[in-house]
Amino acid sequence: MQKLIIDGGKPLYGEIGVQTAKNAALPIIAACILTDEPIIIEKCPRLKDIDAMLDIMRHLGCTAQFDGDNLTVCCKDISLNVINSDLTGKLRSSIFIMGSILSRCRRAYISHPGGCEIGLRPIDLHISGLKSLAVDIADDCGVLCCDGSNMKSAVVNLDFASVGATENLMMAGALLDGETVIVNAAREPEIVDLADFINAMGGRVSGAGESVVRINGVKKLHGCTYRPMPDRITAGTYLAAVTATGGNVTLNNIVPEHIFGITERLKKAGARLNVKHDSVRIFAEGRPRPIHKLETNVYPAFPTDMQPQFCAMLACALGSSVIVENLFESRFGYTAELAKMGAVITVKDRVAVIRGVPKLRGAALKASDLRGGAALVIAALAAEGRSVVYGVEHIDRGYEYIEEQLAALGASIRRVGDE
Ligand code: UD1
Repeated sequence: MQKLIIDGGKPLYGEIGVQTAKNAALPIIAACILTDEPIIIEKCPRLKDIDAMLDIMRHLGCTAQFDGDNLTVCCKDISLNVINSDLTGKLRSSIFIMGSILSRCRRAYISHPGGCEIGLRPIDLHISGLKSLAVDIADDCGVLCCDGSNMKSAVVNLDFASVGATENLMMAGALLDGETVIVNAAREPEIVDLADFINAMGGRVSGAGESVVRINGVKKLHGCTYRPMPDRITAGTYLAAVTATGGNVTLNNIVPEHIFGITERLKKAGARLNVKHDSVRIFAEGRPRPIHKLETNVYPAFPTDMQPQFCAMLACALGSSVIVENLFESRFGYTAELAKMGAVITVKDRVAVIRGVPKLRGAALKASDLRGGAALVIAALAAEGRSVVYGVEHIDRGYEYIEEQLAALGASIRRVGDE
């Protein structure tokens, strides 16, 4: 198995570009099923999660190939093969492909995605939402058999503003007669990006980014070339790393308003930021300041996908911080690894109390989920001595060329292959 060897304690200096957003590219790839014409996705990130989604697309008869950074997807013909658990198990968010398959073929067969390392990932909102569009869904030994032969547009009320359920329903409504209205829709920037993509294919989606999204179905969508948004979580991860290690770094390819909830909290931790229209420069020195209370919530609040990275950064803050995780019930698993480095963190249910220590020590660490893995990398960069991070495959799900990006900023980090 691969591992990252990190010699910590060095400030980060330099300039790097931020990758395209994984969580925007995934639903956009799923939405390619809505047309039989080719789509070019520019600057598509090369990530394990993207590969897992492309495996599902190929399983359904689509073609997908990279030419440099550009991905061409063509779903000329779709075969309604069952998407079984070895495919859905690699990518829990694969469930939102249901909407696009149903919209195009009016039938879909997909295995239940199951739970994951950060807690149960229920899909009740996806199912009840699709049922509101008159999709008949039966669970046949873990395979969701979806019959959309009577599908029709409707008003769908989401009990919770789920990102994936909103995306699923936007795709489901794209080719239906009439207007599908999602009430209490998620407002994340990735929702806006998906709407822009569907509209670039000739769709009629409005209200994305607000609580009510309207999808006016069209008869046919066409091919297009589209470049998804920059990855706000990757940007936030590198910014948190610099706040932890100290340094002076410029990140290019960001959207300031997407990362506002993150940059405001980094300022509280003592970092100085200079935000321009598509770049941000961060300066940090000394130990971070503690953050009295940091709560995750839906956009535009502080994102749950940044919670572990902030916890790692605050582990060596000049005092105690409290983090409340409101979205996922068990997203503090990585703190046991941070404790091996000398971090003092107490977790009870969804609350972590972090008592900052003067220095973390390098250690052998095991990543067991994507963002928790990123937190371990940040802690290792800030720590004294050598750390070895195992479980790199989790980190590779969401960060493109992470060791190259950090090495470009002067970090001592290298990937060691299978031995
Ligand atoms: C997306 C992101 C993920 C991020 C999350 C929250 C992608 C590919 N993934 O995941 O990185 O952490 O948003 O910002 O974009 N829920 C239910 N029933 C459902 C669906 C969700 O109870 O049917 C709950 C979940 O358990 C969780 C909360 O709603 O507690 C948020 O989930 P959701 O917004 O759906 O996240 P995802 O789309 O899975």
